[in-house]
Amino acid sequence: MGKVASGKIKGSSSKLLDEFNASISFDKELYKEDITGSIAHVQMLYRQGIIDKSSKDKIIRGLDYIKKEIEDGFYRFDIKDEDIHMSIENRLTELIGDDAKKMHTARSRNDQVALDFRMYVRRKNRDLVELLISLESVLIKIAKENTDTLLPGMTHLQHAQPINFAYHILAYASMFKRDYERFNTCYTRNNISPIGCAALAGTPYPTDREYEAKILGFKGVSINCLDTVSDRDFALELLFNISVLMMHISRLSEELILWSSSEFGFIELSDEYSTSSSIMPQKKNPDVPELLRGKTGRVYGNLIALLTVLKGLPLAYNKDMQEDKEGVFDSSKTAEISLKILTKVLETMSINKEAMKKATKKGHLSATDLADYLTTKCGYTFRDAYKLTGEIVGYADEIGKDVSELSVEELRRFEPDIKKDVESVIQLENSMNARNSQGGTSTEETKKQIEYFEKWIESLGERL
Ligand code: ARG
Repeated sequence: MGKVASGKIKGSSSKLLDEFNASISFDKELYKEDITGSIAHVQMLYRQGIIDKSSKDKIIRGLDYIKKEIEDGFYRFDIKDEDIHMSIENRLTELIGDDAKKMHTARSRNDQVALDFRMYVRRKNRDLVELLISLESVLIKIAKENTDTLLPGMTHLQHAQPINFAYHILAYASMFKRDYERFNTCYTRNNISPIGCAALAGTPYPTDREYEAKILGFKGVSINCLDTVSDRDFALELLFNISVLMMHISRLSEELILWSSSEFGFIELSDEYSTSSSIMPQKKNPDVPELLRGKTGRVYGNLIALLTVLKGLPLAYNKDMQEDKEGVFDSSKTAEISLKILTKVLETMSINKEAMKKATKKGHLSATDLADYLTTKCGYTFRDAYKLTGEIVGYADEIGKDVSELSVEELRRFEPDIKKDVESVIQLENSMNARNSQGGTSTEETKKQIEYFEKWIESLGERL
């Protein structure tokens, strides 16, 4: 059986062309979508009186059989069939004869591939959303256990102000919530059926696109057939959303790598999700977060590759568009396994609260509180208070103390108006809890944020 029985091209194609042209080696991933789409198509053709009942029944039985053959592992994918669409049609013809040839009435491979691919992207949006919810649940659990766990908040990777670990973790919960929303709206916006557009201009057959769309669970049909068969925005959106997701995963991974180093010692990754060195017996390596960080690069590559494929294409379908699939398959799989393993890593790591607390004693994290004290209690302008605090920090460094450890007597040397209450102001836990503005790091505000995330997860209920 050849690729497509053609009127224009006589004789068989060269082996080299088959190898270059065929997409079956990767688009077989779409077999389920292709079969589901074809079943809906023949149901519509029958309902509209375009094919008879016996042909419809035979085609559906044949397609079910092929699905089983593929899933049981004895289906033969042949490069000569070019792609999954022709492969299944050719196999159906082998199985049921001429009735199979009616299946492609009122459609083209252009709307067929658009349909299969859209359904695949739709499925992946759904899968990723589910995985994101599991990740969020673990983050919230960690947060709930750490609303009083002090650690240094950083800017420029330098100690800045004391925050609590729950607050830090909830920053990631916020990022992943936006990811959830992006996948969710990508799903909704693209839940539109392309089938029935045929090659580019619609079809003269009395089809019912709405009916076919409904069988396939789409919420509507596309507006303009020329756009529909040329459009891969849905795939780009998925690739972009995955890129942002992986960027978030990569940032968290970077922190896990830092935190698990001897320099920080804030966390310890579980043995189950750590690896060892082939030569240094004492080592425990954070390969998982490193790989997560590394895999982010290929995912960006897939987005840029598809944008580039599409940028110069005239309407409508061009074979360049066959290059749309591998990147999407690869990014989707990468995102899925990344979410799964990150969730496990977080679930199984241990948190060293003491090491975090100890680290807060370095870097004068409550220097801003002292400047604020001088401003509100001693009549300084903030800029003058900032300057004097700088001098006090220099003094603390000289005597080997952290600002939070200075006594009122020591501080009075710089400003006699300073009172005993300063000691509690510069104490680190109080400094953290003083940041009680909406969305701030105080334990009270952090607990409100946890509540917000918990309510959100609860509200998802029946999701997609
Ligand atoms: N294998 C093709 C693809 O993945 C299917 C569409 C082919 N259409 C065509 N007119 N050659 O894009």
